[in-house]
Amino acid sequence: TSHRIGYFVGSLSSTSINRTLSRALIRLAPENLHFTEIPIRDLPLYSQDFDADYPPEGRALKAAIEGSDGILIVSPEYNRSIPGALKNAIDWGSRPWGTNSFARKPTGIIGASVGNIGTAVMQSNMRSVLSFLDAPQLNSPEAYIKFDPTVFTGDGEITDAGTRDFLRHYMDEYGAFVQRVLDVTAPGHI
Ligand code: FNR
Repeated sequence: TSHRIGYFVGSLSSTSINRTLSRALIRLAPENLHFTEIPIRDLPLYSQDFDADYPPEGRALKAAIEGSDGILIVSPEYNRSIPGALKNAIDWGSRPWGTNSFARKPTGIIGASVGNIGTAVMQSNMRSVLSFLDAPQLNSPEAYIKFDPTVFTGDGEITDAGTRDFLRHYMDEYGAFVQRVLDVTAPGHI
């Protein structure tokens, strides 16, 4: 069956290596996964003051998450953590209290860095946040990508067979994980 995947790119950079990685992942993904970006760029900075009358940007974000069968987060690591723009979007999606849009959404976390750490610390921080928000996460495989511009072309082609096979495997496992979570949360499942 086909699944709608909403993906976040955690960078606002016009030359984002994570956007390049997202293109590569979409190209390699199983055909039953259909990807739509959930934009974070135009969200105001979240404040509880918005809760009484959530603005259109916040409503659109929540609707995009809730309309997705699975979420994929493709993000850089900033100062050993989650980039502020992405954390802001997650805060928007988690509120108003009692309407957390991430609850029970199967979620994958992946990221590319220019350094050897490959976003590992961001991903670890992200798991804490998503666990609190009750989002089940793909635990294995993990993918910590040190970005090599000779391996990834701008439009998402991968020139290295080993990297391509690994990321295809990651997306296959991600698709299977989304399916498993949907199966156990389907109405009528015993
Ligand atoms: C970075 N970078 C970085 N890299 C890393 O591996 N760990 C880190 O903690 C940080 N911290 C960090 C903070 C800030 C404010 C910036 C701008 C950058 C470097 C980062 O990997 C590099 O800039 C990537 O190109 C960012 O990904 P995008 O924006 O190109 O997708």
